[in-house]
Amino acid sequence: MFIVLLGPPGAGKGTQAQRIADATRLLHVSTGDMFRENVKNETELGKTAKTFMDKGELVPDEVTIKMLLERIARPDAATGAMFDGFPRNVVQAAALDKAMASRNARIDHALLISVPDEELVARLGGRWICRNCGRLFHERNDPPKQDGVCDACGGELYQRDDDRPDVVMTRLEKQKPPAALIDHYRNAGVLTEINGEQPLDSVTSALLGALGMSQA
Ligand code: AP5
Repeated sequence: MFIVLLGPPGAGKGTQAQRIADATRLLHVSTGDMFRENVKNETELGKTAKTFMDKGELVPDEVTIKMLLERIARPDAATGAMFDGFPRNVVQAAALDKAMASRNARIDHALLISVPDEELVARLGGRWICRNCGRLFHERNDPPKQDGVCDACGGELYQRDDDRPDVVMTRLEKQKPPAALIDHYRNAGVLTEINGEQPLDSVTSALLGALGMSQA
């Protein structure tokens, strides 16, 4: 099964992708995580991506598509994956469709998580991430048991550079899923819109329900 998770910055794509991956054993492919890994390792790709990420802008399509196609060519993505943060526009969606067609597959589900802007600002401003395992927390909505420490692995929690208020405003302006992208999946008959302004467990249940599964 191949799934795309769509939604504005802070909608809960990463949080829900971790939960769905746990429930389905599907491979979680996050282009944001891949870029951040490259930034951390100071690769050429990371240096290029950082100049866009720091401004709250999308990394150019040719860079992003190449990285994504290389990732899904690996054996662990042969039979299924959940794409988080990709595609962001119809050019990226067309590249993904082509890659799927070349392996006689298709995107089975496009799950759009919708959340109003004022809630997105609060979510991004309060987000904390484990430096070690990547588990996501929110200081108000989903706090760790101990400040600054990951419940899952004891790692140190940090806040992303692009969660600064000025960058968040640019991301919300430039990075919401465009109508043409949503129409792309609606026209393909695979789009389900989920209300992301619900408790975490309710969003997970709704997403799993859209996949024809129930929460354990
Ligand atoms: P990326 O990492 O993909 O960032 P994003 O799309 O802005 O999404 P976020 O990771 O900020 O939010 P999310 O929806 O995953 O929310 P989360 O689960 O963390 O991309 C980063 C950058 O890389 C981009 O700016 C761009 O430059 C580049 N990039 C990536 N992909 C690209 C592409 N395809 N093309 C070009 N450039 C690309 O949740 C947020 C917070 O809310 C957390 O604290 C969480 O605990 C909390 N929360 C979540 N759900 C709920 C809920 N239901 N109730 C209460 N709190 C909740």
